[in-house]
Amino acid sequence: WEVTWDASAAVKGGYETFMDKEIHDQPAAVADTLRGRVDERGEIQLDEMRIDPAVLRSVDKIIVIACGTAAYAGHVAKYAIEHWCRVPVEIELAHEFRYRDAVVSEKTLTVAISQSGETMDTIQAIRHAREQGSRVLAIVNTYGSTIAREADAVLYTHAGPEVAVASTKAFLAQITACYLLGLYLAQLRGHKWPDEVADYLAKLGEMPDKVQWILDEQESAVRALGAELADRSSFLFLGRHVGFPVALEGALKLKELAYVHAEGFAAGELKHGPIALVEEGLPVFVIVPTPRRPTLHDKVLSNIQEIRARGARTIVVAEEGDDAVDAFADHIIRIPATPTLMAPLLTVVPLQIFAAALAGAKGLDIDQPRNLAKSVTVE
Ligand code: AGP
Repeated sequence: WEVTWDASAAVKGGYETFMDKEIHDQPAAVADTLRGRVDERGEIQLDEMRIDPAVLRSVDKIIVIACGTAAYAGHVAKYAIEHWCRVPVEIELAHEFRYRDAVVSEKTLTVAISQSGETMDTIQAIRHAREQGSRVLAIVNTYGSTIAREADAVLYTHAGPEVAVASTKAFLAQITACYLLGLYLAQLRGHKWPDEVADYLAKLGEMPDKVQWILDEQESAVRALGAELADRSSFLFLGRHVGFPVALEGALKLKELAYVHAEGFAAGELKHGPIALVEEGLPVFVIVPTPRRPTLHDKVLSNIQEIRARGARTIVVAEEGDDAVDAFADHIIRIPATPTLMAPLLTVVPLQIFAAALAGAKGLDIDQPRNLAKSVTVE
């Protein structure tokens, strides 16, 4: 008798593709990035960063430097860090930052986000920031990578090796690490009391189970939708507030994996032009804020009505129990109820699954999409 053992199947944890495995690794990626960084009093301990607390107290601006999905993770974090720390956070695409006469000083903290730690655009950009006197803190997923070595301080994500070119679990881990950094800064600078930080950490600690719920309860319906829409050639993604960078990330996943036109934009931009794109049957994903934030929720609801009235096929990502969307949604993907700032860790998951399923239905190579490399080590 002969034992056949598919090594790659074992490495993929029994999943068809590395991307499928990594989508399902996401609860652990968040939990592992949190692990060991909160002490028994519920306070954040980031001594590993080895950056002088006095420096962090003097920071008057934060610049996030990254590319692609990593930049969208930083964009999500901007909303939280500004809210918690009252420090302006600028999101800079690395390849743009280098050639712009950016305002940087020794009071600027540069946060470089990179899964590989080898993205040449980001490496060159942090060198540029350091030349201007800024301290650099790296949030990377690869131990001993160039960006980790060149930074003044490192906060590693613990997502585990990410093999698929399209980033998934690293994105969730990057947001988690950025939130730890933001809460640490808020605590250090006296903007948040330890009990407030502990409350946010408790909410972060609930996220792995909430991501798992989506994988358990929503994945099969989202996969079916991906197969159903495999013949479509154009998709829009709408989001508001922290849902805006999630819309950008959802569009990027679909571009990378299925090679179709997909555009993400802020829902409020609709009437400033993009609504002209809306036509009969156009699939439009809409990330709906929690109904407990009516100012955001109700505006997005009216955005859904506007595009539905013009024939869009609305695919809505909304909280369980939010039945206000039912009348205007052709498809509803549910996420567990969660606070606004935590929602991106959940709302992105169906978008990842959808993109992978649609690409799979087209018979495309999900782990190694055409024209792409896992780490862009050239400028
Ligand atoms: C994301 O799915 C892409 N693979 C790409 O945008 C990637 O996020 C970007 O190239 C940055 O890579 P890094 O995180 O390794 O620096």
